[in-house]
Amino acid sequence: MASFAKNGALLSECSFFVIKKIPHNLHIRIFCCTFALDIEKISMKKFFLFACVAAMFAACAPQNEQKSNSFMDLARARFAVREYAQTPVEQAKIDSILEAGRLAPTAKNVQPQHIYVLQSPEAIAKINELTRCAYHAPVVFLVCYDTDLAWTKDGESSGNMDCSIVGTHMMMEATELGLGTCWVKWFEPAEVAAAFNLPANHKPSFLLPCGYAAEGAKPSDHHFSRKPLSETVTYK
Ligand SMILES: Cc1cc2nc3c(=O)[nH]c(=O)nc-3n(C[C@H](O)[C@H](O)[C@H](O)COP(=O)(O)O)c2cc1C
Repeated sequence: MASFAKNGALLSECSFFVIKKIPHNLHIRIFCCTFALDIEKISMKKFFLFACVAAMFAACAPQNEQKSNSFMDLARARFAVREYAQTPVEQAKIDSILEAGRLAPTAKNVQPQHIYVLQSPEAIAKINELTRCAYHAPVVFLVCYDTDLAWTKDGESSGNMDCSIVGTHMMMEATELGLGTCWVKWFEPAEVAAAFNLPANHKPSFLLPCGYAAEGAKPSDHHFSRKPLSETVTYK
């Protein structure tokens, strides 16, 4: 909030608020400008309007040098969480995680994924009996694909690939929302399908336990061990 005096005339109440919000790694700046200008001073009015518009354009330009909260920060912050607090996960956060999955690309866009949200005490007890890798998280996403829908080429279904992209979107959104997750393959798909009475065409792909990390939960040593690109990339 600032006040300006020019030629004895008070150009009052120039409020300029900059609200910076960074959802989904996009920088959005919202400007709320209120000016009460002396109507008779046309040149001053033009000057202030020009300054206001210029400031808005400058602030909306890509923030090339400002990389905080970028996707890379999120990718570095994520780790497999294997100890969870029993704090319930808010429904709005579950909705947001599911929405992130919904936006994922899938082969031929057939969207063969079907996600079971295990969160009732019975479902959570059951999944913890079936695998030691549900880690007693308050929510476990059981990500399946519809074998009738998934695109198949040369006898190979893209169902697991589709689910992996959906799951990666979900995992990263959970990270952004301050939640922990762990990708889990350590379970018998047929046993899980039977235990939860899944339709025959819903094939479990993986589990994604999700919740607030328990106090003191730390990344395992694996998290800090990544091969150099020279071992995993070849330019041709
Ligand atoms: C396809 C896949 C299957 C995995 N299965 C399990 C699992 O069954 N149990 C488990 O505790 N972690 C599992 N993980 C987690 C990995 O062990 C973990 O992501 C890896 O060691 C790297 O550690 P970080 O995620 O903390 O960076 C799995 C990860 C992937 C991608």
